[in-house]
Amino acid sequence: MKPDKVTVEFAREEHAVHAERICNLIYESALQRGTGIARRSNDYISSKITGGKAVVALDGEKLVGFSYIECWGHGDYVATSGLIVDPEYRHLGLAGRIKEKTFELARMRFPYAKIFSITTSLPVMKLNSRMGYKPVTFSELTDDEEFWQGCKGCVNFDILQRNNRRMCLCTGMLFDPGQPLPANNAATPYLMLLKNKISKIFRIKH
Ligand SMILES: CC(C)(COP(=O)(O)OP(=O)(O)OC[C@H]1O[C@@H](n2cnc3c(N)ncnc32)[C@H](O)[C@@H]1OP(=O)(O)O)[C@@H](O)C(=O)NCCC(=O)NCCS
Repeated sequence: MKPDKVTVEFAREEHAVHAERICNLIYESALQRGTGIARRSNDYISSKITGGKAVVALDGEKLVGFSYIECWGHGDYVATSGLIVDPEYRHLGLAGRIKEKTFELARMRFPYAKIFSITTSLPVMKLNSRMGYKPVTFSELTDDEEFWQGCKGCVNFDILQRNNRRMCLCTGMLFDPGQPLPANNAATPYLMLLKNKISKIFRIKH
């Protein structure tokens, strides 16, 4: 397939027909990775699409990638979540394009909000770092209960609970529009991944 044939755009109401496929892609990836991806219902994904809070990647009529945003803490924060690329379309730079479009959507809709994401994924850490996100502790992210309840569908939710929501296997990354952009250090995502792996081993031992 040709990556230049794939369009990445703000989702419109008619894209809600893809909600079930998006949920399946997310679920299958979570099974494959055996790690933290929170499950979402069709209705939840549909509501993001119809609410103008999502980005879709399309190869003609076929949905091949997705991500969405949601604001938390009365609009002080906006999270970018649910990033998924069809396995047949990976390693073509599509996640980078979706991330950039999602970031654009978040800045457009919530210009004063801090933007964050939590992830265990090296590709996502790389992309976030390039866009100016920096790694932070969970205490610097939203304390909106509903956001953290969204982690319930993740296999690691018990770890989050056990740690009183202070840490988990995901790394928190934050873009603060009020702060100068941090220098882009190519080693940052690798160091974050290493830190995650070490904390995982430590937690398994306990
Ligand atoms: C993570 C995911 C979205 C990446 O999609 P993608 O379109 O293949 O990513 P891209 O081609 O845009 O690559 C982005 C960067 O990550 C790197 N990358 C991609 N897959 C990688 C992998 N499996 N391991 C290490 N690096 C990887 C790429 O080399 C690229 O880095 P570079 O620009 O320095 O070369 C995709 O693998 C996926 O859908 N995974 C399952 C769902 C998931 O993990 N979502 C994230 C939840 S937070």
